[in-house]
Amino acid sequence: MDRPSLAGLWDLLWPGAGPSRADLAVGAEDRAPLPYPSGWFCLALSREVPAGAVVNRRFMGRDVVLYRTRGGVLRVVDAHCPHLGAHLGAGGAVDGEHLVCPFHRFAFDVEGSCVRAPGGAPPRAALGQYPVRERGRVVYVWHGHDAVPPSWEPSELPDDRFAPAATWSTVLTSHPQEVMESFVDYEHQAVVHNVALREVKPPLEDGPLLRIAFGAAIRLSVGLGTIRVEQGLALSGLGLASGEVTLHQIGMTLGVVVTATPVGPWRTQLRVVIMTDAASRPDSPLLRKAAAMSLSAVAGQALMRTVVHHMVQDARIWNRKRYLPDPALTSEEGAIGQYRGWVGQFYPLEAPADRT
Ligand code: FES
Ligand SMILES: [Fe+2]
Repeated sequence: MDRPSLAGLWDLLWPGAGPSRADLAVGAEDRAPLPYPSGWFCLALSREVPAGAVVNRRFMGRDVVLYRTRGGVLRVVDAHCPHLGAHLGAGGAVDGEHLVCPFHRFAFDVEGSCVRAPGGAPPRAALGQYPVRERGRVVYVWHGHDAVPPSWEPSELPDDRFAPAATWSTVLTSHPQEVMESFVDYEHQAVVHNVALREVKPPLEDGPLLRIAFGAAIRLSVGLGTIRVEQGLALSGLGLASGEVTLHQIGMTLGVVVTATPVGPWRTQLRVVIMTDAASRPDSPLLRKAAAMSLSAVAGQALMRTVVHHMVQDARIWNRKRYLPDPALTSEEGAIGQYRGWVGQFYPLEAPADRT
């Protein structure tokens, strides 16, 4: 089937839902030369998976199911039941500490073992599980090549200090490596976002972490005018950038988390989470605490609008750009070259010949 007719079929079946003619004309082989990287990837905010919930997600071309037991244990499992393949996210339910399949009501414990089958003794069957973590009330799942277990932990934002105050999400025709590269692409900040950076420090490599620090004068949307921010960010692999933004004029620090989750080949779910910390001061008098919380909520919303504005500007580029394994960098763009070297640790050793 040639590409124009595939695009035509797509339009006919799901108008506006499929890749555009231009996407298909670029060619999947050109747009997806990067494999899925290893690392931690965001699947949800903790509050999206309360006790008793069963939630569907797409991750690296597969369906996965998140559930939380009544006792609060969070699990991410293969979507399909090992008995006869029913989709656990299509009618599966939490029963106490078990996940129960909708087809024959086999029950699986938090280790993934089948522990109950209404018709008799449970078969020796296990539900595939993914390592999962909750950091700063965000849910991350691990992908390791050849099922290698986690060798590092996601995010450095202190759990007890920040909590999500505002979130935003979109799906990009892109790859997490391309998205995260924008944090070391300092030159585009002025061109695309009209942001002047100062005191840019060279990225610091720390195993799976890449630390980035710069100052910037950013015009915050919603009436706060131009504000000076100091931004210290750490990339935790290719799925997660987190850090603190200090707003000097109002003496406030907010947490920012940007996540890039590969949902399929060259399809990436981008999430932005703005964290505020006022709620973590239970000792302050009630009125002062309420005022601090509302100010941080306003600042959080303003920062969110600004970050989203920047992400939408970036998305115009990301959604159409082609990954170049051998870019023509200027002498000012050493950070991108350094980043390209750092990302190698997240791919299988033999992969892929076209990356170098
Ligand atoms: S398919 Fe799940 S219990 Fe039968
Ligand atoms: Fe950008």
